[in-house]
Amino acid sequence: MKAIVKTTAEPGAEVADVDIPTPGPRDALIRIEAASVCGTDLDIVRNWDAAAATWGSKLPMILGHECSATVVEIGDEVDEVSVGDVVVVETHIFCGECAACLNDARHNCLRMAIPGVSRDGVFAEYAVIPARSLYVVAPGVDPGLAALYEAAGVAAHATQRAGDVTGATVAVTGAGPVGLFLVAQLAAAGAGDIAVFEPEPTRRARAAELGATAFGPEESEPFLEFVRAHGKVAGADLAFDVSGAPPAYGLLFQALGKDSRLVSIGHMSTPLPVNISKDLNLRVLDWKGTFGRHIWSSWDIVDSLVRSGKLDLASFVVDELSLDELPGRLDEIGRLPGKVLVRP
Ligand SMILES: NC(=O)c1ccc[n+]([C@@H]2O[C@H](COP(=O)([O-])OP(=O)(O)OC[C@H]3O[C@@H](n4cnc5c(N)ncnc54)[C@H](O)[C@@H]3O)[C@@H](O)[C@H]2O)c1
Ligand SMILES: [Zn+2]
Ligand SMILES: [Zn+2]
Repeated sequence: MKAIVKTTAEPGAEVADVDIPTPGPRDALIRIEAASVCGTDLDIVRNWDAAAATWGSKLPMILGHECSATVVEIGDEVDEVSVGDVVVVETHIFCGECAACLNDARHNCLRMAIPGVSRDGVFAEYAVIPARSLYVVAPGVDPGLAALYEAAGVAAHATQRAGDVTGATVAVTGAGPVGLFLVAQLAAAGAGDIAVFEPEPTRRARAAELGATAFGPEESEPFLEFVRAHGKVAGADLAFDVSGAPPAYGLLFQALGKDSRLVSIGHMSTPLPVNISKDLNLRVLDWKGTFGRHIWSSWDIVDSLVRSGKLDLASFVVDELSLDELPGRLDEIGRLPGKVLVRP
């Protein structure tokens, strides 16, 4: 089968012909309907050593982690899915047996594996995935677009972490695909005014289309005035960082009101200095992190938004590529105002 494989630690990846993998007793062999490209894939292509240091990843490895697929074969012990089911892969492959898994925190499994990061991934015609890590998509949902459940589910988990968003004035830094999914879900959940701060003009335009008021790099003062004018106590009631950029926190700590909430989604590779008294204590800030999707409630949220028409996945697709086209297009993908689907 055709797959995109990383063979050396140097930046880059190539299309290769590899064997179709064989499922074990608790696995499913899935035929990929569509994969979607995420910033993590781009990081791994460019900076293999960092990924390998974090995850113990080994070369060669098939890249890609977000996908939808059809089950074509199952192992003898599988009862979670059937041949013919359309499924999406929960990329935090959990063991089901560790302390995290037994305490409703499978997204934080202590023995987690991630396709395309620590084991063979889904930029391929077929993949083998443990059946327990597959979410069956309801009939009627487009089998290709379902690949976007995974990234949309990150935003869903962040809204779960935030609690009630009804009527809240929200500040968001970063309108990449995850930030855009977040804006759409905040609007659908009845949030009040949503202010987005994002350097990339096409991403700002898309955030505005989804109901936010968008501000660019020269507009930090208008951004702050906006949330102070609309928020309950001298600033935004709620904020999300979806950039992972250290300067975004400087802005959010000015934007947040008293007794407010902050959810960090963006990953940051460097430590961030924080003024605990001023930014956290005196504000009585409720600051949370989030990782992956809560299994399976975040998936159910996305599924119900999609099926009720409140989340139009098709509108988030900015391009569709074949596996052959993908390696040559990786550089531009990180700036596009939505997701790129790969159809093997
Ligand atoms: N917590 C999780 O489980 C989880 C899951 C998926 C992705 N992530 C992380 O979430 C972040 C967003 O993911 P994405 O796929 O949308 O990535 P992305 O890189 O496409 O989006 C980040 C956006 O932030 C913008 N940005 C850069 N500097 C900024 C600043 N100072 N202020 C405001 N915006 C700024 C960029 O222009 C970009 O549009 C990334 O850091 C990613 O690694 C976290
Ligand atoms: Zn991803
Ligand atoms: Zn586990």
